[in-house]
Amino acid sequence: MDHVVAHPETLYVGTPAYLIATENPDGSANLAPASSYWALGSMLVLGLEAAGQTAENLLARPDITVNFPSGDLWRSVLKLDGTTGRNPVPADKSRYRFEADKFQAAGLTPEDSEMVSVPRVAECQLQFEARVARATPGLGESYYMVEAEVLRVHADPQILKP
Ligand SMILES: Cc1cc2nc3c(=O)[nH]c(=O)nc-3n(C[C@H](O)[C@H](O)[C@H](O)COP(=O)(O)O)c2cc1C
Repeated sequence: MDHVVAHPETLYVGTPAYLIATENPDGSANLAPASSYWALGSMLVLGLEAAGQTAENLLARPDITVNFPSGDLWRSVLKLDGTTGRNPVPADKSRYRFEADKFQAAGLTPEDSEMVSVPRVAECQLQFEARVARATPGLGESYYMVEAEVLRVHADPQILKP
């Protein structure tokens, strides 16, 4: 799949789920499905639980990619359901199992990014490279409101209008 750099008027795509890649302490990539987000201008606001490896990673290393799977990738999204990059698995994620290589577990391919240190998901038609600017603890401190600036958008030309 060839991607081109895109400059869409809005980053809202109406997609209910995204895959967020972050950098683990050992430099490998973590990948997690999520759905809570909104976008305004070049900023994304992501709702991410505090107990996950994703939050831990982006608080320490702010580079992320946010990748939007189309419907045909639903099996890959579900393969990541119930997995965490946290080892050991925290008590409040007891239904989860540790998975060191989420890309492999989901059958997805890491693709080098151009602006950030973490990979994109090659199979996703729409990919954002972004950097976290602020993470604000939510009420009860069970989640973070993560504000991230989108640095580059990659899109499969098939989803772009001429
Ligand atoms: C379809 C779907 C949507 C999800 N949406 C969110 C979300 O918006 N925010 C969040 O923190 N977790 C969400 N999750 C749960 C995370 O994927 C889950 O907590 C996972 O363990 C995080 O992985 P990590 O611990 O490696 O970061 C969602 C899971 C699925 C399957």
